[in-house]
Amino acid sequence: MSIDPQDIETHSHESRWFEPSPEFVAKARVRSAEEYEKLYRESLDSPETFWKRETGDLVFRSPWKELVEWKLPHARWFEGATLNASESCLDRHLSTDRKDAPALIWESEPGETRRMTYGELHQKVVELAAALRGLGVKKGDRVAIYMGMVPEVVVAMLAAARIGAPHTVVFGGFAAESLRDRINDCAAKVVLTQDGAYRRGGVVPLKATVDRAVEATPSVEKVVVFRRLGQSVLPIEMKEGRDLDWDALVKQADPEAGAPESVDAEHPLFILYTSGSTGKPKGVLHTTAGYLVGAHVSTKYVFDLRDSDVYWCTADVGWVTGHSYLVYGPLSNGATCLMYEGAPNHPDWGRFWQIIEKHKVTILYTAPTAIRAFIRQGTDWPKKSDLSSLRLLGSVGEPINPEAWVWYHTNIGQGRCPVVDTWWQTETGSILLTTLPGAHKMRPGSTGLPFFGVVPEIVNKAGEPVGREKGGLLILRRPWPSILRTVWGDDERFRKQYFSEIQGAYFTGDGARQDKDGYFHVVGRIDDVLNVSGHRIGTAEIESALVSHPSVAEAAAVGRPDELKGQALVVFVTLKPNNEPNEAMKKALTEHVAQEIGKFARPDAVRFAESLPKTRSGKIMRRLLKDVAAGRESTGDTSTLEDYSVIARLREED
Ligand code: WT7
Repeated sequence: MSIDPQDIETHSHESRWFEPSPEFVAKARVRSAEEYEKLYRESLDSPETFWKRETGDLVFRSPWKELVEWKLPHARWFEGATLNASESCLDRHLSTDRKDAPALIWESEPGETRRMTYGELHQKVVELAAALRGLGVKKGDRVAIYMGMVPEVVVAMLAAARIGAPHTVVFGGFAAESLRDRINDCAAKVVLTQDGAYRRGGVVPLKATVDRAVEATPSVEKVVVFRRLGQSVLPIEMKEGRDLDWDALVKQADPEAGAPESVDAEHPLFILYTSGSTGKPKGVLHTTAGYLVGAHVSTKYVFDLRDSDVYWCTADVGWVTGHSYLVYGPLSNGATCLMYEGAPNHPDWGRFWQIIEKHKVTILYTAPTAIRAFIRQGTDWPKKSDLSSLRLLGSVGEPINPEAWVWYHTNIGQGRCPVVDTWWQTETGSILLTTLPGAHKMRPGSTGLPFFGVVPEIVNKAGEPVGREKGGLLILRRPWPSILRTVWGDDERFRKQYFSEIQGAYFTGDGARQDKDGYFHVVGRIDDVLNVSGHRIGTAEIESALVSHPSVAEAAAVGRPDELKGQALVVFVTLKPNNEPNEAMKKALTEHVAQEIGKFARPDAVRFAESLPKTRSGKIMRRLLKDVAAGRESTGDTSTLEDYSVIARLREED
């Protein structure tokens, strides 16, 4: 850590409160702060009682003997229990009227709709599970999944879980090299893929990428190909002896062979790769019972799910949000999930709002980066559609600046829908900080309070609590059910990354502050904190100030080494349409930041950009911007960069 977190200055002057409507509260699961407090206290003081009750609807084949064992840094939960995750997500609904309710409503990018009931989804999972067994995939073998947003990717994940084979889903935007490295890191035996996917009106050739990746993956025995597009749209080559057609394979399989494997609570459920700021991606390992419980209980309370809801999480299944809040959380709750194949701006920026109107979506869970993109396109797009079905909104992935929060609340939620700003990580498996929509008032830019069983704290480098209204490191004092268990194949890295910074606690890597009301404000990765003339400030604060200027669509702040100041502040800005990127604008923005935060935070350089370099999950890659600002070549992993040409253009403009 380069700077002392204790000195993080926070300048958010946000003091507005928003209340959930009485109509929302009346129907909510948790209806007041007192009710939340009671449950929260119970989750800490009588965890056995709490978790026993809250997991009552999950299918445990045998009950647990010990709730949690915490031998730092390793936690084990629900020891003694046996279960199968796919059984809790599917089989348990077959004896209820959820059997014929849609589990998935799929909207393709070209505009078709497919519905799959719980009964149908179960059938498909059973067939594929049987087929995988037929290929010799056994409990414990790894299965790699490289697919787009089609119902079959959910089938693939649950089929792997059904036979006890941990899956590793690799986001379909990754290049062959990244896919290869991930397959090799976990030595996957089978790859499930599809010929290609529609994206922004074009075709993404997934199978061809797999072909290149598996040239150098000795562990891979078979590649199973789902035909999303068909030979006439995208011809693919099938390698004799290695490649198998999904449909043909499933047809031959004996459904009797698709019974769920009973696994222990701590049996690996999946490995998901996440990139650190340096080094190769980490294979975050989640295990069966703890992860499933975390996803299940958080989905139920945070989204206040009902059978009548049409719930839409816009994340790709290739990210943890897709795992927890498109698959395991909602399906274990018997929810009806909308799944969209394509881009938010195809064929135009009205697509999300048309989908909401068409399918009467009631809950929308999306990311600040998407919200800012929508803001940039103006309020005319959402106005064209009927959004009256919506009752709850969610945000995840990065700090949401108060302006974007209010825009989302006003223009999408029409002032009627509570907004839950949920903080969590790939490593935490499920939401740890949030408000509960019917219980809490909301403060824009704050992620609210700890979820049940979660004990967060803000500390200095020595691990001492800093108190309210002071910046520091966000840590977690106690293990929660869905905490990652290790980094696949590298337990030492796990220990170092998460448990060496602060004695006896999990270190999140984020800087944060608790306001006087106890609400948490996460300012972002501690590595993103700048030190300008001795002032420590989170990049998010500066970005938030810039985005509050009426001409700014998106902003990224980075430090550039500076002899005088330690770090000079360089900001990259994209402007809203009809704004000129000229000297006068630079001056106006510089003054605006000085006004909003203080003179010390006045940017040393303002650079305009058409777009900012982002990861495929929409996070701005400040590390690359830092290199651009310093005028040096980028070293390190760029495999997560969505569009490399963005960086090339920024360099040209230098
Ligand atoms: C990091 C985790 C959580 C699933 C998607 C991203 C940042 C996430 C928030 C939020 C402020 C947030 C943190 C965190 N983050 N949600 N609501 N407010 N910051 O998962 O890629 O593992 O990233 O995203 O910095 O540590 P991830």
